[in-house]
This record gives sequence, structure tokens and C-alpha cells, in this order.
Amino acid sequence: MAEALLGIVIENLRSFVEQDLATYWGVDQQMQKLSSHMTAIRGVLKDAEKRQITSEAMRDWVQKLTDAAYVLEDILDECSIQSKKVLCGVQNSCLTRFHPKDILFRSDIGKRMKDIDQRFHDIHEERSMFQLAASVTEKQGEDDDKWRQTSSVIIEPEVYGRDQDREQIVKFLLEHASDSEQLSVYPIVGMAGLGKTTLVKQVFNDDEVSKQFDLTVWVYVSNDFNVERILQSIIESTTKQNPDRKTLEAKHKEVQEVLQSKRYLLVLDDVWNEDKEKWKELKGTFQCARGIKGATVLVTTRLEKVASIMETHPAHHLKGLSEDDSWSLFKHHAFGPNREESAELLAIGKEIVEKCVGSPLAIKTLGSLLHDKTEVRQWQNVKESEFWKIREESSITSEENSIMRALKLSYFNLELSLRRCFSFCAIFPKGFEIVKEELIHLWMANGFIKSEESLEVEHVGNEVWKKLYRRSFFQEAKTANM
Ligand SMILES: Nc1ncnc2c1ncn2[C@@H]1O[C@H](COP(=O)(O)OP(=O)(O)O)[C@@H](O)[C@H]1O
Ligand SMILES: [Mg+2]
Repeated sequence: MAEALLGIVIENLRSFVEQDLATYWGVDQQMQKLSSHMTAIRGVLKDAEKRQITSEAMRDWVQKLTDAAYVLEDILDECSIQSKKVLCGVQNSCLTRFHPKDILFRSDIGKRMKDIDQRFHDIHEERSMFQLAASVTEKQGEDDDKWRQTSSVIIEPEVYGRDQDREQIVKFLLEHASDSEQLSVYPIVGMAGLGKTTLVKQVFNDDEVSKQFDLTVWVYVSNDFNVERILQSIIESTTKQNPDRKTLEAKHKEVQEVLQSKRYLLVLDDVWNEDKEKWKELKGTFQCARGIKGATVLVTTRLEKVASIMETHPAHHLKGLSEDDSWSLFKHHAFGPNREESAELLAIGKEIVEKCVGSPLAIKTLGSLLHDKTEVRQWQNVKESEFWKIREESSITSEENSIMRALKLSYFNLELSLRRCFSFCAIFPKGFEIVKEELIHLWMANGFIKSEESLEVEHVGNEVWKKLYRRSFFQEAKTANM
């Protein structure tokens, strides 16, 4: 992130000097100094970004650098805008370059440049405390072609090792729940990335299940258990109309009408709510609407407590994938169907999979990471990476710690420019379906991607998206039936 930002700012500085704007605003000497400090800092940033994972002092230093880079970017932006105004003025009304406003601006910019110059000087000095290793810029391109040959293989996600769980839930829906006069609530509990949503999607799309219910509705709930929003989602997905303007009461009523006399299956995916009252309010509406036996709510959650608040049926605890299923999933992503598997890679792969504690998310992510790495040394690097040694976070379980390590390892293996594009996606709310073209436009607007030689910037954006997708940083949104 910091590296990519620094690259952009250095580039802006260079173009500023080339256009003689630095001389015009009387800051060329400071710019030269800044540029040399920043180039030196950039040389060691790759090492710094890696080490900040384990060192708080390093993290502070990178943060200081990032803050300073943003301030400098702002100054350059202001100079650029002011320069355009002056140039316009010269053409249109023959203003002299020493208009009083320009003189004030020069003095202000001169002061701010001096301050920022000092900040970078200090950051540059502090660098020596950490004994950071200089690195060469990463090479790109070679990996892409290998990916192109097999990428189509994993476009459709394949589900491994959930047959028993699926059968158990389907059986519950078809047999037990269908006889019940009461609303049945079946919670599925497990840590992040274990495959709860994937499993419930399979159940939701099962032919027998579809036949059993008059109405099936999928609602992504997430952290904010907002009753009104949930009601709204149900109305929208069943009537295809937006009930935005209606009162909460009207929405309760409409949901009751929609569900009335129907054997319905409702999925509430990723619930975090521990507030009993909120659930009671919603459940009341679902129950009022019940006009036929067998109405069921399937809930996915990471929290045991949520399950115990909502359940009418004991929680279904999802486990990690078995050793064999973990291995099949890993092979699918790491090798694809056509690649020869050398005994050495297989042996290292097995050890890597073991570290993933049966988490499909971790296995898939590391498998995708290794897909374009063909040398034993590269696999060994992943297996022996320092990321596996990151200190445990006490707030999460040891399994969750293992998964976080796998995900961090994969993130820090991304080219630096890709990390920035990916981190930017944090602006979207959880569970948000991102439209690829819009994301590319946002990357462009924020200056994260630029045209390259003969490639249009949209094309560059598309390549960035593809690389992130292949590394499993994006998940294809399944919209059918939901
Ligand atoms: N049984 C499985 N086989 C293959 N891939 C899986 C399996 N379960 C989950 N995945 C993949 O792992 C990732 C996380 O799964 P997800 O269902 O979103 O987890 P959760 O809902 O528990 O957080 C997804 O990319 C999904 O495609
Ligand atoms: Mg989920």
C-alpha cells in the first residue's frame, strides 16, 4: 500500500519538475531533495511492509510514511490546480506571473514544502534504525500466461466434502420441519471461511428443496441486524418492488402478506445479532404469516450465542474439511487438471494444506497463490514463510489464527500495486456485490492504475481484476435464484 502510494507521488514529483512548475513556485531544490529521500525509502519498503506484520515499531514507521506521502500528494495537487489557473489567466487576460495571489501562494507552498521535506528527512533517518533490506522492483508478466491456460477450470466453484452436512439439512427440511406446525429455525455455526454460506447455497438450490417450498428467499444480514432492512429485502426479493417509503409497520404487514399461507424457506445469512428483542420482533412477523406447516428459517452465523438465541433446532456445527477433501480442494486450485504434479511439490503441498486446518477459504487462497508457482523453491518459501510464525492474537481461536496467517501470507505475496487496488475494496460494505467495471473506474479515478504503453487504462484495470480474481481475492457472486 505505502509502496504503491510512494510510487505515484514520486511519479507526480518527477512530472512536476519536468514541467518546470517546481521552479515557477520556487520549490525546485526542496523537490530534488524530497525525490532523492523518497527514492531511497522506496528501495526498502518491500521489506518494511513485510516486517510491519510482526513489528509495531515498523508499523508506526510505515504509517508515518503513508501519512506524509498523502500530505505531499495534496500539496502537489494544489500546486497543479493553481498552475493551471495561472496558465489560463496568462492566455486569457495577460496577467503577470507575479499576481499578489500567486506571491501568497508561493510563500505558503514554500513553507509547507519545507515542513514536508523535514518530515521525509526524519523518516529517512529513522529508516537506519530498522536495518531494512533493499529490494529490486518485482517483475510481472511471466506468471500470467500459465494462468491463462487453466483459469477457466475454476470459474465454477466446486464444493468438496459437504455431502453429509447437505443431506442432513435437506433431510431436516423435507422430513422433520415439514411436519412442524411451528416455525422451525435451523442455525449453522462455524468460523469465518468454513463454508457455511456455500453449504446453505447448495441446500437452497437443491431440486427437492425447491419442490418442497412455495417460496424461497435469501437475505444477507451481516453485522447490522436491522429489522426494517431485513423486511425490506424480503419484500424486494418477492415482489420485485422497492418499499422504501413505507413505514416500518406497513413493511411488517407486507411481509406477513407475502409469506401468508405459503410454505416458505428463508435464509438469513451471516447473522451477528445477540439482541433477543430484535429477533423476537422479526420472528413475530414470520410466525404471524405462517399459514401452512413446514415454514423454516436457515441461519448461518459464526457465533454460538446467536444460534442459541434463534434456534428451535440445535445448532449444526460445521467442521473443517477432512484431510482428503482438503487435499482435493487444494489440488483443484494449485494444479488444475492438466498440470504434472512432481513428487516434491506434492509433499510440500500436503504440509501446506495441513497448516490450513480444514478451512476451505485458507486452502483455496493458498492453492490459488501456488498455482502460478512452478519451482520447488517457491513452494518451500510459502511453506516456511515467516507469516506462519506471526504471534497468536488472543481474541481469536488458534484455528482462526492459522487461517489469518494463510490469508496474510497470500495478501503479502501480491504485487505491491495490486495490494493497493485490493485494500481499496474495504470501502464497500461487507457482502456487497461489486460491479467489476465500476470498481475499475474507481481505481482509475483514484489514480491506482494508469495506462501502460499501448494498453488503455481500462485494459490495465481488467488485468488487475483478473489477477486478484485468480488469486481468490474476489468471489463470483451467484445471483441466480437469490
Ligand atoms: N466445501 C467447499 N469446497 C470448496 N470450496 C469451498 C467449500 N466451502 C467453502 N468454499 C469456498 O471457501 C470460501 C469461503 O466460503 P464461505 O461459504 O463464504 O464461508 P463462510 O460463509 O463460512 O464464511 C468461498 O470462496 C467458497 O467458495
Ligand atoms: Mg458466509
